[in-house]
Amino acid sequence: MGWYQRVFDAEVQHADPALAFLSYDDEHHRFAIANLDVLRPDDREREKKGLVGVDHVAYTLDSLEDLLDSYAELREKGIRPYWCVHHGITVSMYYKDPDGNQTEFQVDCFPSSDATVGYMKGPAFAENPVGVEYDPDDWLSRRKAGADLASLLMAKTAADASPIRGAMMETPASS
Ligand SMILES: [Fe+2]
Repeated sequence: MGWYQRVFDAEVQHADPALAFLSYDDEHHRFAIANLDVLRPDDREREKKGLVGVDHVAYTLDSLEDLLDSYAELREKGIRPYWCVHHGITVSMYYKDPDGNQTEFQVDCFPSSDATVGYMKGPAFAENPVGVEYDPDDWLSRRKAGADLASLLMAKTAADASPIRGAMMETPASS
């Protein structure tokens, strides 16, 4: 984390023993750093080493409308996300390319980065910085039924925190 603070002059927006979020500009976060000693405590050092690196790169879309359109389009092509999670600060869908490289498509939940950072520094995010899973097919049908998408964007409670999904939390292939 110190390296990103020194090299990017990045500011810590949230840090707990497991996760840290840093930003160097108006965006609420540019880096998310996971501590594998906390998230994968039972792994040996060698196994952890195999997980170190870029976990995913994120692209921000303009609206939940766009995110759901993109989901429906990709679903038509047989491409489905491996993790749909309402992070509290973003509604996100994570995809893997055939080589396992991970991409996140996200939509901001708050109208401004300042409001997002405010949420990140508050108690709800401290309690659940990962978020709550949702079913994109359910959201598509709700949209079809005329649901207010703004209500889907609203931050969820910490009641059922999602596990972190993707390569970081999968058992590393033994080699
Ligand atoms: Fe992300």
